[in-house]
Amino acid sequence: MSQLSGKVALVTGASSGLGAAVSRLFAERGASVFGVARDAARMTEVFTEVPGGTYASVDIASAEACNQAVARCVEEFGRLDALINVAGFHQMRHTISMTDEDWAKDLAVNLNGPFFLCRAALPHLLETGGNIVNVASIAGIEGEVYSAGYCAAKHGLVGLTRALAIEFTSERLRVNAVCPGGMLTPQTTEFAAPEDADWNLIMRIAAPRGMMDVADVAKTIAFLASDDAAAVHGAVYIVDAGKTAG
Ligand SMILES: NC(=O)c1ccc[n+]([C@@H]2O[C@H](COP(=O)([O-])OP(=O)(O)OC[C@H]3O[C@@H](n4cnc5c(N)ncnc54)[C@H](O)[C@@H]3O)[C@@H](O)[C@H]2O)c1
Repeated sequence: MSQLSGKVALVTGASSGLGAAVSRLFAERGASVFGVARDAARMTEVFTEVPGGTYASVDIASAEACNQAVARCVEEFGRLDALINVAGFHQMRHTISMTDEDWAKDLAVNLNGPFFLCRAALPHLLETGGNIVNVASIAGIEGEVYSAGYCAAKHGLVGLTRALAIEFTSERLRVNAVCPGGMLTPQTTEFAAPEDADWNLIMRIAAPRGMMDVADVAKTIAFLASDDAAAVHGAVYIVDAGKTAG
């Protein structure tokens, strides 16, 4: 039997990068995947490699859209075993020139969306004894230059993970976070430094072993979502190929 046989997983950010890799790997390991992202055309392409999976175009900044996505997943597959919050957004800005909208968008996608989805998914996950994996970042445990909103949101996502782990400690539910270091995805290849950036500070983000492959990070997420991780609850897994080791 495969590691995720019979499990139903809702995966956000499924159209690209890590979310697409998670969707493919979960399907390969026996899960039924309900993918969520904004770009329907890209999901159509990704889901040709996600047998049995289905997807919806959803803006996770909207609580109502998140509620509907969870409801559709349960309607389609009859249950929910794992919520994998992968969708994220990173823009670099000098803090002094950040607009209210910049700040709001950082929080909307990286923190509000995962919260809305956790809240909607929890009743279903409590029923199945399921789990949540929140994809934060090493920016959720340390500072990153020109990324005040992103860092604040990712630190918040780590805090949300721990808060839920404590709140549901007596229930049949697991909640964990993964903090990846740099991965080769559109988020990093389309990265734009602000004008007059201090490249010495930007270079502090660089990983000593280079960019990780999303497929490798997806394997840690598959482990956490599986029964192999039955004793892992409230954990914050750093998956950064040694970047934060010291
Ligand atoms: N790439 C890296 O180096 C890196 C490092 C650490 C953490 N992360 C985190 O890993 C996760 C995946 O990143 P990635 O590099 O694969 O990014 P990506 O840019 O390739 O993909 C982002 C995904 O999020 C979805 N998304 C963005 N805004 C959305 C919204 N409002 N509603 C619904 N979906 C939305 C996009 O549609 C896309 O599917 C993110 O949470 C990111 O912050 C990435």
